Amino acid sequence: MERLIHVRPDMSYKEDAIAYINEHYAYNSAINGVGGLNRYLDDYEGWLEKLAADRVMVPNEERVPAETYFLVRESDNRIVGMINIRLVLNERLQKSGGHIGYSIRPSERQKGYNKINLYLALKRCQELGLENVLLDCYKNNLGSAKTMQALGGVLINEWYDEEEEETEQRYCINVNESVMNYQDIYEPQISKRRL
Ligand SMILES: CC(C)(COP(=O)(O)OP(=O)(O)OC[C@H]1O[C@@H](n2cnc3c(N)ncnc32)[C@H](O)[C@@H]1OP(=O)(O)O)[C@@H](O)C(=O)NCCC(=O)NCCS
Repeated sequence: MERLIHVRPDMSYKEDAIAYINEHYAYNSAINGVGGLNRYLDDYEGWLEKLAADRVMVPNEERVPAETYFLVRESDNRIVGMINIRLVLNERLQKSGGHIGYSIRPSERQKGYNKINLYLALKRCQELGLENVLLDCYKNNLGSAKTMQALGGVLINEWYDEEEEETEQRYCINVNESVMNYQDIYEPQISKRRL
């Protein structure tokens, strides 16, 4: 069984991080939960500085404090996913966006990795004292909706996004309950080694 861990981005992952984004382009995939890395491909060092600023930012209507992690596979130290946790929500994110955005590397999808990605993020939310988190996805994004459902997400709202011409769904996850209910499934898949 592969084991995974969340790692805070640093210089040692520069090449693989850029390859992670480029793989999304190659597969024509949506990019989510990367903390804006797609806009910093020629300035990785600047992106690390941005992430440091994101963590301590005072929330406003444009931006909120957030943490971004790489989901790394222990066996080969490869970035297989990313996740972005918004620590508070402003009005815009309350309406659409929610607390957590994520992605899995296109060549590594449908291996159960995003469920581990979300479980690890929920553990971090627990440390941060978040009681409930809101997550949004398009109804037809089955990989995302099923990830939320697999971690105990409750569908609380559904609306039609006129601009995107897609139905959007909002799920709520009770953080403590989720970690308690699903730890037996996911803890064995988490690396205990610090990478
Ligand atoms: C959504 C995404 C993160 C899913 O990652 P993943 O690693 O493939 O997901 P998992 O393997 O952990 O699967 C989670 C669940 O979704 C199901 N699933 C995954 N991809 C699916 C697909 N394309 N169609 C149907 N079901 C799918 C899995 O079978 C699993 O369901 P289960 O719990 O019933 O077994 C990935 O497809 C992705 O990065 N997409 C682009 C970015 C994106 O859409 N982010 C979310 C925005 S809301």
